[in-house]
Amino acid sequence: MSSAEQGNLPVPLTGFAGRRREIDGIRSLLDTRRLVTLTGMGGVGKTRLALEVSADARESFPDGVWLVDLAP
Ligand SMILES: Nc1ncnc2c1ncn2[C@@H]1O[C@H](COP(=O)(O)OP(=O)(O)OP(=O)(O)O)[C@@H](O)[C@H]1O
Ligand SMILES: [Mg+2]
Repeated sequence: MSSAEQGNLPVPLTGFAGRRREIDGIRSLLDTRRLVTLTGMGGVGKTRLALEVSADARESFPDGVWLVDLAP
């Protein structure tokens, strides 16, 4: 199994729009930080943005990228 296949990220059913600047900012934070937190109003797109960046980051993490939903 290649690294890009490891993990449990859900495949989004809809296309992703915009957030170019936020994606670039989160990517550079992930290069140097062990924890990055996204904050914002309810429903503004935090989870979707995190999943978008996480899917792109899979190549950089040999053990895969995993979603751990703490909400329940
Ligand atoms: N950039 C985007 N492109 C397309 N759809 C988006 C985008 N951002 C958010 N959405 C959609 O809007 C809805 C709400 O987004 P999301 O669940 O990420 O918000 P949230 O900030 O995590 O909400 P909550 O505060 O309730 O956790 C979802 O259906 C998500 O797929
Ligand atoms: Mg959310």
